[in-house]
Amino acid sequence: MLKSIMQRSDIRKIYKKYISVKQLDRTKWNEKFFFNIFLNKNIFFLSSYRSSHGYLIFRKILDEYEILALATNIKNFRKGIASKLLKRLIEKAKKEDINKVFLEVSENNIAAIKLYLKMGFCKLGCRKNYYKTPEGFQNAFIMVLKI
Ligand SMILES: CC(C)(COP(=O)(O)OP(=O)(O)OC[C@H]1O[C@@H](n2cnc3c(N)ncnc32)[C@H](O)[C@@H]1OP(=O)(O)O)[C@@H](O)C(=O)NCCC(=O)NCCS
Repeated sequence: MLKSIMQRSDIRKIYKKYISVKQLDRTKWNEKFFFNIFLNKNIFFLSSYRSSHGYLIFRKILDEYEILALATNIKNFRKGIASKLLKRLIEKAKKEDINKVFLEVSENNIAAIKLYLKMGFCKLGCRKNYYKTPEGFQNAFIMVLKI
């Protein structure tokens, strides 16, 4: 499902899909944050074929996409779900004449970095101390895919 959200009732439906994807609590947005994000224009939610298996949230800014969140249900890791979501995003980007897809990822998130490299993303730069975690601050890599 791919949809720009405007109505609160729509956001509630999307939120149900979002919370059905089991992931580590600290990587999950809380309800208030989720609703605030989706009240903005140009925010999209891409769901896996089975909505409880994974999701991708992105925004469109002019001729670029920015991936805001991507997760696979912890029970379904390593089955190609995140790859399929990214492929769908890239197909849509091509149709919409998008030039680049950006994202930020913790430099400690080896699984995600390997995933993005496999999908053709390159490291563009680094934001120092970008993420605050219980273990301390972590740097973020900025990654980009040219479409
Ligand atoms: C990162 C994440 C989205 C990957 O989802 P996934 O559905 O398991 O990924 P896929 O099955 O499509 O994996 C594709 C490739 O990514 C890489 N990859 C995925 N998980 C990996 C792991 N644990 N270790 C090393 N490489 C990994 C591999 O190259 C893999 O290809 P392969 O299985 O043929 O070796 C998932 O681990 C997750 O939800 N993590 C928590 C949330 C998160 O970190 N999101 C990214 C924020 S930027």
